[in-house]
Amino acid sequence: MTMRFEGHRVLLTGAGRGIGEATARRFAAEGAAVLVTDREPERADRVAAAIRQEGGTAEAYGCDVTDDVAVREAVTRAAETYGGLDTLVNNAYSCHPDPAPFEDLDSALWYQDIDVTLHGAAHCARAALPHLAAAGRTGRGAAIVNVGSVNAERHFGDHAYSAAKAALASLTRTLAVSCAPRGVRVNLVEPGTVRTPAWTDRAEALDRVAAHYPLGRVGEPTDIAAAIAFLASPDAAWITGVTLPVDGGLLVSNLGMNEAMRAGTGLSRG
Ligand SMILES: NC(=O)c1ccc[n+]([C@@H]2O[C@H](COP(=O)([O-])OP(=O)(O)OC[C@H]3O[C@@H](n4cnc5c(N)ncnc54)[C@H](O)[C@@H]3O)[C@@H](O)[C@H]2O)c1
Repeated sequence: MTMRFEGHRVLLTGAGRGIGEATARRFAAEGAAVLVTDREPERADRVAAAIRQEGGTAEAYGCDVTDDVAVREAVTRAAETYGGLDTLVNNAYSCHPDPAPFEDLDSALWYQDIDVTLHGAAHCARAALPHLAAAGRTGRGAAIVNVGSVNAERHFGDHAYSAAKAALASLTRTLAVSCAPRGVRVNLVEPGTVRTPAWTDRAEALDRVAAHYPLGRVGEPTDIAAAIAFLASPDAAWITGVTLPVDGGLLVSNLGMNEAMRAGTGLSRG
């Protein structure tokens, strides 16, 4: 593995499992010092301990991204422990599956999905930016990578979560322009369906949806981690403000309709 992140300091939110965990491990494997944060402190502890066991540099910190004070403390912890901050990965989210119909949606759940998914990322960016800008001024650049979702682009259900992810994509673009003069790049990945603990209760759904992915499978957390690491790395030094789908071709396909049109004709997908 190349070591693109030697001397690099990274803070990740919601990194106690799933995509956040895989991303923390990826950064650490490439030489970064990582602060693994999660609302559930014992999850963050487990990931940080596993990284250290493998010879990496990691600390854990319990942080709910909706708590502005806790977010500022987490950022301060990263900057003091490692002497600065080069990358923020905004990965924490909330998603309550929609009840039907829309008018029955519980207001508290609506606000919670928006609060964690959008406001949480904004709190983290605001707290981290002075430190990222300091790293950016050194000339080697700094980065925010936001974790969005294909839900921002198409109807896959979950109104509040999808709206929050769409707003996060917009915030990515506006921050990219405003932060560019300070040497901070801001980008977003949009995962399709990824096999994480979030799906534990619905694991059989992962097998059902795989057929809708042109590349023939759902994603693994490492697929998303690789894209996040790319956007944070010097390899992406001239990329800012982009939305990168990491979705096995889902957003450019329409396999269900394609199958329906070709049913009984003997024609293949191609
Ligand atoms: N798994 C998928 O299919 C999928 C698809 C599209 C997008 N995504 C996005 O990928 C990211 C990670 O998803 P995942 O499947 O790995 O999730 P996950 O549920 O497996 O893990 C999320 C982690 O975030 C933590 N968390 C929740 N609320 C928090 C808060 N308020 N503050 C701090 N931490 C909090 C949880 O404790 C948990 O450890 C999310 O942004 C999600 O929207 C996932």
